[in-house]
Amino acid sequence: MFMMKMGLRGSAVFSAMLFGVLMMAVPTGESFATENSETIAKVKKEMRESRKEIRKAMKQTRGKVKQAVRGGLVYKSYCVVCHGETGDGDGNTKAGDGLLMKINKQTPAFFEEIILEGGVAVQRSKFMPSWKDVLSTEQIGDLVTYLSMVTDPVSRGEVVFKTNCILCHGLNGDGMGRAAVLFDPPPTDLTRSDKNDIYKKMIITMGGEAMGRSSVMPIWGMELSDDEIDDAVAYLRTILVVPYPE
Ligand code: HEC
Ligand code: HEC
Repeated sequence: MFMMKMGLRGSAVFSAMLFGVLMMAVPTGESFATENSETIAKVKKEMRESRKEIRKAMKQTRGKVKQAVRGGLVYKSYCVVCHGETGDGDGNTKAGDGLLMKINKQTPAFFEEIILEGGVAVQRSKFMPSWKDVLSTEQIGDLVTYLSMVTDPVSRGEVVFKTNCILCHGLNGDGMGRAAVLFDPPPTDLTRSDKNDIYKKMIITMGGEAMGRSSVMPIWGMELSDDEIDDAVAYLRTILVVPYPE
């Protein structure tokens, strides 16, 4: 299932590696230090603050991911039989009235209501049971987070981005990530990208070098699934502050 494929462990290792690189990159040589002490103090302060910000963002993202993972487990136990592994309605049973049981993108309020009260309460099939006597409030909250995330490419892409890309591209994708100062050319400001989705998918999958760009932009094709890369590209479209290139 999608949560299993997130590659969270791999990206945590990668982040730890980058933090290591950052620590080493702080210039400490004596003569350099006296000449540039002011700049160094500034860079160090900036680094401390960004690191705090990044940790906070990662914690928030992980909190959401954890909730979704718990929701995924509840989903597996109670919902797969009708809705299928991925919510595409490919379960083992068919609803008595022959309905498709695909779970589409819906508002959290709708998810909550149909899970609590069952299909009839929202003018849907009576074969969608009510779960309020079976599941706890917390389990239903976890399910809503899970369904909201897995049915929305942009939310999935946001998770992919925030767990893999922000150290270079910045929390907001503006190219101001912690590691940005180390690289020339710097990580692109993705809020002002003039590249289309096809180009982005290629450079993310194959890395910068294969596209005649900096080899600092990693190859993600091994770490991330094709779907995760599509999701990341969908998310990147939503952060643009310039028009999408035709
Ligand atoms: C016995 C089969 C069955 C089980 C088990 C089941 N559902 Fe359903 N579910 C349905 C049917 C049938 C529909 C209605 C389809 C319709 O009316 O369009 C539905 C609809 C839904 C919808 C609305 C989907 C949409 O996009 O309109 C959601 C959300 C949903 N179910 C969530 C769940 C969750 C979460 C669980 C597990 C806690 C679950 N269902 C378990 C049969 C089931
Ligand atoms: C180690 C730093 C680093 C990481 C981590 C990183 N990138 Fe990059 N990325 C770069 C650099 C540097 C460039 C610019 C290459 C150039 O201009 O030659 C770049 C360029 C890009 C571009 C091209 C944008 C354009 O408009 O030309 C995209 C898209 C991109 N990165 C997406 C991502 C995504 C998505 C992730 C996470 C899955 C990611 N990057 C992680 C360093 C990084």
